[in-house]
Amino acid sequence: MKRTALGLAVLLALVAMGTTPVHAAGHGHQKVRKVGILLVAFGSSEQSTQVSFDNIDRKVRAAYPGIPVRWAYTSTIIRKKLARQGKMLDSPEVALARMQDEDFTHVAVQSLHTIGGAEFHDLRRTVGAFTAMGAFERIMLGYPLLATQKDMERSVDAILGIIPAHRKKSEAVVFMGHGSHHPANAFYAALMFQVQRRDPNIFIGCVEGYPPIDEVLAMLQEKKIQKVYLMPFMSVAGDHAKNDMAGDEPDSWKTILTEAGIECELILKGIAEFDSFVEIWVDHIQGPLAHFDQ
Ligand code: CO
Repeated sequence: MKRTALGLAVLLALVAMGTTPVHAAGHGHQKVRKVGILLVAFGSSEQSTQVSFDNIDRKVRAAYPGIPVRWAYTSTIIRKKLARQGKMLDSPEVALARMQDEDFTHVAVQSLHTIGGAEFHDLRRTVGAFTAMGAFERIMLGYPLLATQKDMERSVDAILGIIPAHRKKSEAVVFMGHGSHHPANAFYAALMFQVQRRDPNIFIGCVEGYPPIDEVLAMLQEKKIQKVYLMPFMSVAGDHAKNDMAGDEPDSWKTILTEAGIECELILKGIAEFDSFVEIWVDHIQGPLAHFDQ
């Protein structure tokens, strides 16, 4: 009996939390509907990567005119580094608190991650917390780049569209993904499987996940590949691309492949510099926005 009463009280409290802020804002005034988009990236402290973020920002504003767009970076280290350069960026939590303060009623949070890995799920928890607080009438999270089978097919097309046109079919293209300890790491190998159905000499490895460079090298050697084009499969060509992929250190991919007798040509462009990839993230914002209209 006691338990039921408590359960009912909790339920009523939750219902109140979910509805009160919107309908009883101020003194009985109803809040005016205000929709916003929050773009969330890991972030980068490399100035050269700004081109990727600017491209996303431009495309999002063009696709959803009239909807205010805000940014947040999940990486504390990067935010602190940028702050020392006088560039202030919010965490998702601070950005959402600000949006709550500015009377947004509907927020589409768009992950700019590649896979639904650890960071995406951290962001999901943050969105869940703001939902529980009743901070907005609706708050929803959009999928990362690789989520549905349609995303995979679009990404395969996008990959085929950005590889160097002058490359010979006997030459390989090796993409460096980030990778993760999270189960969603499997998306990288799944994408490689699908892209190789179209072009068997395109490979996707991970700097911090599966498949590692040794395994990619073994595959290249099985096919007797003599030249590869190295490209990041990350939104930005930041620290990993410049150092772990293209650097002169003994464990960089360039060094490992070169020492194995494979010629390397480097392409230092993040995938968010290419519209075909940006459009996938941009289209994912439609998911939350469509729910707001229901
Ligand atoms: Co990393």
